[in-house]
Amino acid sequence: MYRSRILGIGMSVPSRVVTNHDLATKMETSHEWIVERTGIEERRWVEPGEGGCELATKAALEAIERAHVAPKDIDLIIYATLSPDFNFPGTAVFVQRALGIKDIPCLDIRQQCTGFIYGLSIADAYVRTGSFKNVLLIGSEVHSTGLDISTAGRDVTVLFGDGAGAVVVGRATDDQHLILSTHIHADGSEAEILWTEYPASARHPRITAEAMAERKHFPTMNGKKVFIRAVTRMPQAIMEGMVANNLQLSDIDMLIPHQANLRINQKVCEMIGLPADKTHNNIQKYGNTTAASIPICMHEAIALGKIKPGNLVCLVAFGAGLTWGSAFLRY
Ligand code: UT7
Repeated sequence: MYRSRILGIGMSVPSRVVTNHDLATKMETSHEWIVERTGIEERRWVEPGEGGCELATKAALEAIERAHVAPKDIDLIIYATLSPDFNFPGTAVFVQRALGIKDIPCLDIRQQCTGFIYGLSIADAYVRTGSFKNVLLIGSEVHSTGLDISTAGRDVTVLFGDGAGAVVVGRATDDQHLILSTHIHADGSEAEILWTEYPASARHPRITAEAMAERKHFPTMNGKKVFIRAVTRMPQAIMEGMVANNLQLSDIDMLIPHQANLRINQKVCEMIGLPADKTHNNIQKYGNTTAASIPICMHEAIALGKIKPGNLVCLVAFGAGLTWGSAFLRY
């Protein structure tokens, strides 16, 4: 059995900045409302011609370079997204093509905001068994082309941003740099409290003018319910990982939570008693980039020196599905 580690990390966001003030010109909202409820000040949205594959490829190239490997050394691509570039095939094969890699397997996974943690658990398991040596794990999202940019959709639209983050997961060679654990969960009993219903192969036809008139091709959310589930499940997932690794709270050097709402993350820290300087958030700049948010936030924490080699890092996420999970690692 091998152990796995993160060898390199990369990120990419579109250059177009969309501020809360920009959104307030398109719908009834305000900078003050958005900041007070979510912490978000601005987000990045793609320009025409830029998609999830382009963002993912840039993030992947940085991760590969920082891992000191070459694209040809990657033997599996895992692509986590809720916003695939096309209905099929999955986006991983387009990234594979853009990276100039042939023949390796490509796996697209659909666990929304928890996608990166699910992907890490898959990468970790494959590296541990020796099935694959260098796994490229990407979280990449383009929300902006599927949002209701009107007052009717304002509760969801103001939250989301576009972006990509990537890591190369490879073999650990010592006990100072390794993935310690992953714990993943789901509960489908409330799947519809955060979803986009149409277009749907479960509907005949997949989309209708009526469904579109009712705006059912845009994401909808019961924000209050999702908030309550998030602040319940995220502390549970952190505690689960701490128990499994026999850790105290004081052992955690840095918590990187999924970036859905600054208030959720503050509440989670308050509930587990983690001091504010032991966590990092950047939702203020990027909004919620779902599967990309954890690697984007971790990338920034590393750049700021908040995560140093050997530090004990906890990643935690909650999202649509409902899905949630945590990962503990020594960076
Ligand atoms: O990553 C996936 C997981 N997603 C999440 O974790 C999101 C969890 N939920 C939340 O973060 C919060 O529920 C929101 C930030 C989405 C909403 O905050 P809230 O405090 O739950 O607000 P609310 O939905 O109860 O709405 C309060 C009021 C309503 O008006 P009335 O009915 O009181 O007159 C809304 O219509 O705020 C109104 N509102 C807005 N006003 C200005 C909703 N969205 C907006 C908006 N701008 N963008």
